[in-house]
Amino acid sequence: MKFFIDTANLAQIKEANDLGILDGVTTNPSLMAKEGIKGETAILQHYVDICNIVDGDVSAEVISTDYAGMIIEGEKLAALHNNIVVKIPMIKDGIKAIKYFTSKGIRTNCTLVFGAGQAILAAKAGATYLSPFVGRLDDISYDGMDLIAQIAHIYSVQGYETQILAASIRNPMHIIKSAEVGAHVITSPLESILALLKHPLTDIGLEKFLADHKKSNA
Ligand code: E4P
Repeated sequence: MKFFIDTANLAQIKEANDLGILDGVTTNPSLMAKEGIKGETAILQHYVDICNIVDGDVSAEVISTDYAGMIIEGEKLAALHNNIVVKIPMIKDGIKAIKYFTSKGIRTNCTLVFGAGQAILAAKAGATYLSPFVGRLDDISYDGMDLIAQIAHIYSVQGYETQILAASIRNPMHIIKSAEVGAHVITSPLESILALLKHPLTDIGLEKFLADHKKSNA
């Protein structure tokens, strides 16, 4: 399973990249706004800056909601760097745009996915990645992980090549469960990735090993 970080914060991207386990980055307009990145020139430059840190796929989201606008915007984003993946919302014109980009060899990430029917349509259109939002489903009392498992089953039975990118990850259990049910990728805040490191028995065990080493070498 690939690990993407879900942020536009360059320091956090660097920190995750330095761990040596980072495979890519996802951003969205809210994450860009959170970093204070405003205006087209600054936004495009920020994507280039991210691509210069991480050697992996970087999702850049279109703002247009009509087919023609998505094509113009997506082509501009894709031209920025070889690692850019055009992120497109799961709407009717979005499906058409994914089909177009697929025919042009431009990789896509279909975002804002909350149902299996949407997942089938995105795969049919040839999306490279599909982003079901686990945390936002949990927020409204649906089990987001059930959706990941259902899509993983459908994609496996049908032989679809679209990669399931479990998004809206809120905690380390979301990452572990995603791996268990067959997500190909997770995109997560840095905090949840780092939380995977933690176990109290590791800390206690290490402390004891170091203390014993000190005693026997005193
Ligand atoms: C997906 O790529 C989105 O950027 C993201 O995972 C949304 O997460 P949120 O629900 O925590 O905003």
